[in-house]
Amino acid sequence: MLVILLGPPGAGKGTQAERIVEDHALAYVSTGDILRAAVKEQSSLGKKAKQYMDQGQLVPDELVVAIVKDRLADPEYAKGALLDGFPRTVTQAEFLDQALPEVGLNIDRVLSIEVKEDELVERLTGRRVCSDCGANYHIKFKPPKVRNVCDLCGGDLYQRDDDTLETVKERLAVYKKQTEPLIRFYMDKNLLSAIDGNQDIDDVNKQINDI
Ligand code: AP5
Ligand code: MG
Ligand code: ZN
Repeated sequence: MLVILLGPPGAGKGTQAERIVEDHALAYVSTGDILRAAVKEQSSLGKKAKQYMDQGQLVPDELVVAIVKDRLADPEYAKGALLDGFPRTVTQAEFLDQALPEVGLNIDRVLSIEVKEDELVERLTGRRVCSDCGANYHIKFKPPKVRNVCDLCGGDLYQRDDDTLETVKERLAVYKKQTEPLIRFYMDKNLLSAIDGNQDIDDVNKQINDI
């Protein structure tokens, strides 16, 4: 099974992904998480990606496509995967269409999580992330039991560099221009299911599981 999570920054892709991969035993590919890990390691990929990420811009297609190519070549991923935040441009989507048959996969569903813009801004500016395991929290909507400490692993929580108000606005604009066209792209292939992401986390999860 191959499922794609599509949606603007802050829609809840990462939050829902945590549950989906557990419930359905899928390998998880978040290009955002992979890029942040590369930035942390200061690898050559990380150094190239950082300048774009800090500005709220997309990292060039060829760099991101190389990451996904590498994951799909791993038999663990080829058994079934959840893609979070990839593809994000039509070029990336066309790459997938060409690469998946080679590893015996095809896209089963594209879940498009839709959320109102003012809500997205509140979610992103209040988000906190675990520095060890990557779990997502929110100061208001999903607070940890102990302030700034991860419930799952005890790691410290931090705020992402791109979650400032100014960068959030840029990310939302980039989404509209470069990623939103994928809704039509997958609708035309009869693969798209729209999810009402304005509901609380459990209700969104229920809609996803029903599909
Ligand atoms: P990436 O890390 O993918 O960021 P994003 O798409 O901007 O999405 P987010 O991770 O910000 O939001 P999310 O939908 O996962 O929301 P979350 O579940 O955390 O990418 C970062 C950067 O990397 C990009 O800007 C780009 O530079 C680069 N990049 C990545 N992929 C790329 C690609 N394919 N091509 C080119 N460049 C790429 O939830 C947000 C908050 O809301 C959390 O605090 C959460 O607790 C809370 N929340 C979640 N659901 C709910 C709910 N239902 N109700 C209330 N609160 C909720
Ligand atoms: Mg995310
Ligand atoms: Zn953790």
